[in-house]
Amino acid sequence: MRVLEVDNRQELARIEEPLHLQRVLDGLATRRLGAKLHYFAEIDSTNAYARCLAEQGANEGEVVLAEAQTQGRGRLRRSWISPPFVNLYFSVILRPRLAPVHAPQLTLMAAVALVDTVASFIGTPPTIKWPNDILVGGKKLAGVLTESSCDSDRIKFVILGIGVNLNYPVASMPEVIRQRATSILSLTKKNIEREAFFQRLIRDLDRCYGELEEMGFDSLASRWEVFFGLRDKRVRVEMIDKIIIGTAKGIDRDGALIVEDDHGERQRIVAGDVFPLED
Ligand code: BTN
Repeated sequence: MRVLEVDNRQELARIEEPLHLQRVLDGLATRRLGAKLHYFAEIDSTNAYARCLAEQGANEGEVVLAEAQTQGRGRLRRSWISPPFVNLYFSVILRPRLAPVHAPQLTLMAAVALVDTVASFIGTPPTIKWPNDILVGGKKLAGVLTESSCDSDRIKFVILGIGVNLNYPVASMPEVIRQRATSILSLTKKNIEREAFFQRLIRDLDRCYGELEEMGFDSLASRWEVFFGLRDKRVRVEMIDKIIIGTAKGIDRDGALIVEDDHGERQRIVAGDVFPLED
């Protein structure tokens, strides 16, 4: 891994260096992911483009990568801030042999792969905020957005979209995210080689996806739970139509969050935002 040292003053400067894709592809020994890479200097959303490709029959493992997104999408209809040349924004087309009900397992699989990659660059493991936010020191470093297309009994394809803040100075982040987001640069005070991070992440995703397909969800779920920062903690869960307050208990076989509410009832959450509560 090649690392550029920067001091805090330089941290404010943008390094407008495009990704050297050959460095990513050289030695990328993967089985399922990364056989074809679609690269854009700028795009609306890599997820949107990957969906179009998948609908036209693109193969499993094709990756759409962009230096910048003009309409980067986050979970729950939020946007994902995507400035050029500093971060990673990419989407992978998957065609898993899973029932539609098990599609959320892919999101959690991606979170486990991200934790492995991030830990190898910052030295300490991050935590996972259900279902798939990657946090370090309580601040968001990366997010995963999965979008599926299903028939009644099978998944046609899943678009796994990942955004990671790498060389993005916190001081340059818009006000709305500055207090709650972080980047590898901010954590290590060093610019990271984006190609090395991307290659490692594609390899970790390939490995974890292989595990899911070949061995099922159980071992990935156990690893996910190790990094789940809120187990047995009091939480507030905000859903579209209600709010639940209770104790987070972990995840079930389909990746749903289990919360024991204050009436002792076990609630199964499939979509929502979870926040820690001070007792
Ligand atoms: C979240 O935490 O809200 C999910 C963020 C996912 C962002 C990535 S960036 C690449 C891909 N394309 C998008 O439009 N979104 C995902």
